[in-house]
Amino acid sequence: MEMKRIVVLSGAGISAESGVRTFRDNNGLWNNYRIEEVASPQAWLNNMDLVLEFYNQRRKQLYEVEPNPAHYALVDLEQHFDVQIITQNVDDLHERAGSSNVLHLHGELKKVRSTVDPDLVCELDGWELKKGDQCEKGSQLRPHIVWFGEAVPEIIPAAELSVSADIFIVIGTSLLVYPAAGLIHYVAEGAPKYLIDPNASDSFSVSNLKVIKEKAGTSVPVLVQNLINAR
Ligand code: OAD
Repeated sequence: MEMKRIVVLSGAGISAESGVRTFRDNNGLWNNYRIEEVASPQAWLNNMDLVLEFYNQRRKQLYEVEPNPAHYALVDLEQHFDVQIITQNVDDLHERAGSSNVLHLHGELKKVRSTVDPDLVCELDGWELKKGDQCEKGSQLRPHIVWFGEAVPEIIPAAELSVSADIFIVIGTSLLVYPAAGLIHYVAEGAPKYLIDPNASDSFSVSNLKVIKEKAGTSVPVLVQNLINAR
């Protein structure tokens, strides 16, 4: 029998219990920084030092954290379902937990790319990217991050995955940033949908949606077990 496909859309909230700061919660990153000051093409042109420092700190911290039970539960799900993860996160905690199929919509902290040729992407050695660090063609390297105002090339495969979902699970995202926030509207009307977020709003007009207002670390393992049992 063919496995049912579960598509997961994750956001910063799934990594919160690992110790990664979210963006828009009370102590979120966007309380200390203005988005356009560190996460925009203009910032890169006007203040490269601050942008490098911001992502260097995020990257350095990534080496100090571990996946949590929510990441691991999604790995267990692969025993019984075709699991496809679409993540807005730039951390690598899904991969480190062991998930096989992870699509990064907003880039990856541990990767850098050429400022001239966007297809020239490589892994950074260690946590620090510096002014003067160059790709093999001699241009300055930048963080491999989708900044505000930039295109989201992976949105097309992400939309295709969403269309193909038998079950769709959204975990730990404020659903304020598009196009990621629109993916749920690509999912078939009849497909069961779950939204796990302690601060989820009740006002979504999405069919077959169950909202679970709990933290990911406790509720994702429970949902996973329920889905496996009900299979
Ligand atoms: P946000 O910071 O906007 O939202 C995080 C969500 O996680 C909030 O809705 C919280 O309620 C929820 N949350 C907090 N703790 C949680 C927990 N323990 N379990 C489950 N949920 C929890 O982060 P994102 O929605 O991921 O983009 O933000 C989207 C994008 O905006 C990011 O990818 C980033 C940001 O600017 C870029 O930088 C390109």
